[in-house]
Amino acid sequence: MIRTIGLITGGGDAPGLNAVIRAVVKTAVSEYGLRVVGIEDGFEGLLGETHTRPLTPADVRGLLPRGGTILGTRNRGQFVVRTGETSSTPDEIYRVALANLKRLDIDALVVVGGEGSLGIAIEFDKRGIPVVGVPKTIDNDLGCTELTFGFTTALDIATEALDRLHTTAASHDRVMILEVMGRHTGWIALHSGIAGGADVILIPEIPFTMESIAQKIHERDLCDSQFSIIVVAEGAKEAGGLEVYQDPGDRAHAPRLGGIGNRIAQEIEGLTGKEARCVVLGHLQRGGTPNSFDRLLATNYGSCAVRVLMRGEHGKMVALHAADIITVPLARACANIKTVPTDSQLIRTARDVGISFGAADEAKYHGQEIC
Ligand code: F6P
Repeated sequence: MIRTIGLITGGGDAPGLNAVIRAVVKTAVSEYGLRVVGIEDGFEGLLGETHTRPLTPADVRGLLPRGGTILGTRNRGQFVVRTGETSSTPDEIYRVALANLKRLDIDALVVVGGEGSLGIAIEFDKRGIPVVGVPKTIDNDLGCTELTFGFTTALDIATEALDRLHTTAASHDRVMILEVMGRHTGWIALHSGIAGGADVILIPEIPFTMESIAQKIHERDLCDSQFSIIVVAEGAKEAGGLEVYQDPGDRAHAPRLGGIGNRIAQEIEGLTGKEARCVVLGHLQRGGTPNSFDRLLATNYGSCAVRVLMRGEHGKMVALHAADIITVPLARACANIKTVPTDSQLIRTARDVGISFGAADEAKYHGQEIC
């Protein structure tokens, strides 16, 4: 019998988190007469003295357009202990958190997060607390859902940045490079690159060479386009090379990507003789108000998550599939990240409109025709 739902926002923030909180509270209280307890600072709020707050419809008034999360979030802490490449959580941490959930009379959890937070959520579900997950990340790299909320807002921001870079690049005959987020996947780079008319898109899924980028710039020069626009995902790699980190991380801290855009600018100046500049878009992609689509998606996810719990399902994630919200096993959603399929129709379209992926063998990445 569920009387009280605990609500957690975990991992990096994304536009739409507050819209989910609002939808969960309104649905839980108004439709089902439940109590909602907000757990602050991600799962960390369940440890020690615990940091929680009751959430009523009055508390969520006006939240729909607000960026960030009123509950706070963490993507580092006691639930994520790093040993080299892998991370785990000691059993003792779960024992403390479960005891605190009991003490707080929390019967079930709605966890809003990416693959890291939802991986932790699975452990709570296994240990007897019914959990439903809500897929969040601007990277859009969570499996089993067509979209995570936050992604399309980040896309709008990256596309606007590309539009703005176009006019200044054209005025100065420069190469302008936009470095966008995307640790393991190139969804933001690919979508914003097509929407923003980039000449070169560099994504982690397709290794690139500096020579191939320089070749594209040279071809544009020959066609009387004296400027070029490159969008690069922070996790993109040169063929045979590795990701570029601004901070390699340690046992307590995750490695921090960054620097690939500046490296490309330097190399491209050398290879083409043209002035090349890099702009790192960074956290501007995560901050601020969600667009209307993300508000809608976040609201739909939040309400559905409560309904799913109340009909007795758990260990599930709400997911977008063909314009409807469905449920998928949390374990399946977290099993593998969703990378850009390099044979997809969108890759083909990008190629058709003259975009280069900077690959040594561009012909290898021609995508599927489908239509
Ligand atoms: O998961 C989203 C993401 O924005 C990544 O693309 C990026 O590498 C990471 O979060 C940055 O996180 P932080 O703000 O903790 O450095």
